[in-house]
Amino acid sequence: MVKILCGIFGCISEDVLEKILDGLKRLEYRGYDSVGIAIIDNNKIIIRKDKGKISEFIKNLDLNNIKSNIGIGHTRWATHGAPSKENAHPHMDCSGRIAIVHNGVLENFLQIREELIKKGHRFSSKTDSEVIAHLIEDFINNGLSLKEAIRNTFKILKGSIACAIISTIEPDKIICYRRESPLVIGISSKGVFCASDIPALLPYTRNIAIIPDDKIVILEKNKVQAEDINGEICKLEYNEVTWNLEQAEKSGYPHFMIKEIFEQPRAISDTLKIPLIYIDRAIEYLENKNKRIYLTGSGTSYHACLFGSYLASHLLSMDIRPVISSEFTEILSSLENSTVIAISQSGETADTLNAIRYAKSKGAKIIGITNTLGSSITNLSDVYICTQSGPEIGVAATKTFLTQLISITLLFLRYGLKKGKISEVDYSKLMSEINRIPKIIEEILKKSDIIKNIALKYSSKQNAYFLARGINLVTALEGALKLKEISYIHAEGYPAGESKHGPIALIEPGFLCIFIAPKDNTREKIIGNIMEMKARGAEIFSIITEGDEEIKEISDEYFEVPHIHYILYPILCTVPLQLFAYYVAVFRGLDPDKPRNLAKSVTVP
Ligand code: G6P
Repeated sequence: MVKILCGIFGCISEDVLEKILDGLKRLEYRGYDSVGIAIIDNNKIIIRKDKGKISEFIKNLDLNNIKSNIGIGHTRWATHGAPSKENAHPHMDCSGRIAIVHNGVLENFLQIREELIKKGHRFSSKTDSEVIAHLIEDFINNGLSLKEAIRNTFKILKGSIACAIISTIEPDKIICYRRESPLVIGISSKGVFCASDIPALLPYTRNIAIIPDDKIVILEKNKVQAEDINGEICKLEYNEVTWNLEQAEKSGYPHFMIKEIFEQPRAISDTLKIPLIYIDRAIEYLENKNKRIYLTGSGTSYHACLFGSYLASHLLSMDIRPVISSEFTEILSSLENSTVIAISQSGETADTLNAIRYAKSKGAKIIGITNTLGSSITNLSDVYICTQSGPEIGVAATKTFLTQLISITLLFLRYGLKKGKISEVDYSKLMSEINRIPKIIEEILKKSDIIKNIALKYSSKQNAYFLARGINLVTALEGALKLKEISYIHAEGYPAGESKHGPIALIEPGFLCIFIAPKDNTREKIIGNIMEMKARGAEIFSIITEGDEEIKEISDEYFEVPHIHYILYPILCTVPLQLFAYYVAVFRGLDPDKPRNLAKSVTVP
């Protein structure tokens, strides 16, 4: 699984500073908001870090006369704690003997941080990562060696971790650890290197090893040694990388969009690790009596709002209205005693920010859901939840959409539990269903060739309807938007029941109708809608639950997804439609990463 949240680069070599800065530049494509480095000079750790771009950071760097041969660097994409100098990595322990850089999300850091504070540790940032340096220090204070302390630290810390550590206790080593987040190493006559991704290592070596899960790797001059978490020595497998730089940035995928589609299991796993305290803080703004709640967003994020609205009705028996951000001021007048849940992956969409400002001026409270910590939405919201997708580079939203759906589900489920609208038993059942999603999506992605063939068959169509009922209307709208955005095929998402009130007039032999028809309580009616379209010569492509022979029979093409609780089907069924849009665009000779006339973030109203 690929993870892109932050960039790590470390090396033991000559001209370490130049190499670290060059390595970080090569990781810039991943997106970041702050930069930092730590080097060892005269047995002292020197740290420089700041918010902003690498070019600015280099301009202000005051380390001209320092000759170090060991160091680590980091580009940060904020997940806990806004982008700032204090929150930028590397982070140090209290004594200044240990510096760490981390990529990933720590689940249990809050509790450990509190325990360490009680023991006298002082924290200088709001990040989850800083806890790593302090925990190592704590073990060392209790008499453990550096390596033992590091092993114990990673035994305790839960979550996804790629980490590089330097210390004046053993100043000739970089110690790396990896779990779920990527970290690769390379060794050559030019030095010993570690990095979050291959492009950063390409100037020095093509002989690269991926650190296996839950392993510690110790880098020394001309030497690399891997151990398991108990100190048993193990082997690393080196491979010769043949990718060019551009291919390496996309981890070998031809486009960012497909890379990001394949990152979804990881993005969802990390979003499921959001500490409950963030969700609970948001719930406080939902709890007042007689409160009206609205959801607002634009484009794909609006579809997440619509999902939230169905979810609220089905799970909480609450009517929560979704409003497209650009219409917000036109349709809502009195917002006193209201809470608006504003969803935006970028946190900078002008229409959504305008809706927020308007709502605030009328006295509403704002819960933001965004993928970009430090964005305008995080500043304007009373409280926010940060989805853990990592930067999304393809213009068409993919992984950020699924993590929005996950976040809103977590929020409403927990709210329902607290309000007694959902029983403990139902809550646990649903949570275990949700926890299955990353694995299920991995399975769906393994079948991407099926979608590729269907996409080839339909790639020359000029029109497509995406039809569904109930909560899967969200999937239909999102599937149509994806296809429209990147393949320029005219595509419309419609409630299947509404299709006979107009859209059916367009149906003639060969018209493509895509039905989202998993097994839920709308299935019988959907079958009726399929038959209506089929009778008029439409070609039917259905997304169905595994083993639904009846719908297979009446469809020209189908794709099966595993059975899951019905309210979660949009999360699964969106994936084949993302793949479909992607492959159709590729077969039409278009660049899915850069669709015409569209921008990743629309900052004009
Ligand atoms: C643009 C993008 C869409 C995106 C929408 C909302 O139109 O092209 O993909 O869904 O903005 O973006 P946001 O960052 O607010 O989620």
